[in-house]
Amino acid sequence: MRKWVTAIALVLGVALGAALALNRNEPVVGGPCEGCDAVFQGRPDDPGSSARIAPVGERGEALVLAGVVRDARGQPAAGIIVYAYHTDAAGIYPPDERFRGRSAYHHGRLRAWARTDASGRYRFATIRPGGYPDSGEPEHIHLHVIEPGRCTYYIDDVLFDDDARLTDRHRQRLEGRGGSGLTSPRKDEKGVWHVSRDIVLGQNIPGYPLN
Ligand SMILES: [Fe+2]
Repeated sequence: MRKWVTAIALVLGVALGAALALNRNEPVVGGPCEGCDAVFQGRPDDPGSSARIAPVGERGEALVLAGVVRDARGQPAAGIIVYAYHTDAAGIYPPDERFRGRSAYHHGRLRAWARTDASGRYRFATIRPGGYPDSGEPEHIHLHVIEPGRCTYYIDDVLFDDDARLTDRHRQRLEGRGGSGLTSPRKDEKGVWHVSRDIVLGQNIPGYPLN
């Protein structure tokens, strides 16, 4: 009898430990960032590999952002969470009142998570973001990576090489965090923009854990 009790307690302990590990917020590496903790605020428990950022009907030009996440050896990385947020077509981050007083409030309501599939693929359907009003900053989509149970960090923004605001100065200051975020948009026959942003885990991320 005692053996059974011990075995059941062991199984329950392992299950509880696994649940706690899944729910724990991963440590931030690669330096602090504005709103790094927002990646956990509102995160769905089980995001799929394809997610929608801007709702259907959002004003703006439809855009699909997709890519493959690989590790440093070039192997596809499954189960990695990619978090994305961006401005609306007018170039502002429309606040999400559900998160007033928290970091996610400033990331706005156009945000979503996707978890890479067995081939390391992720995909977001959204709109093309507008550049900030009265600013020379180029259009961009912010991206963060969450490696479950390991760490989280921001990577280079998605940028668009057909954007008139994207100057040589902007190109020179790219850090290559997680690989290049510079994309070449193409429009399909339905008028939907497509950009590809592959990600290399840990690339140019200071303090990235080596094992
Ligand atoms: Fe921004």
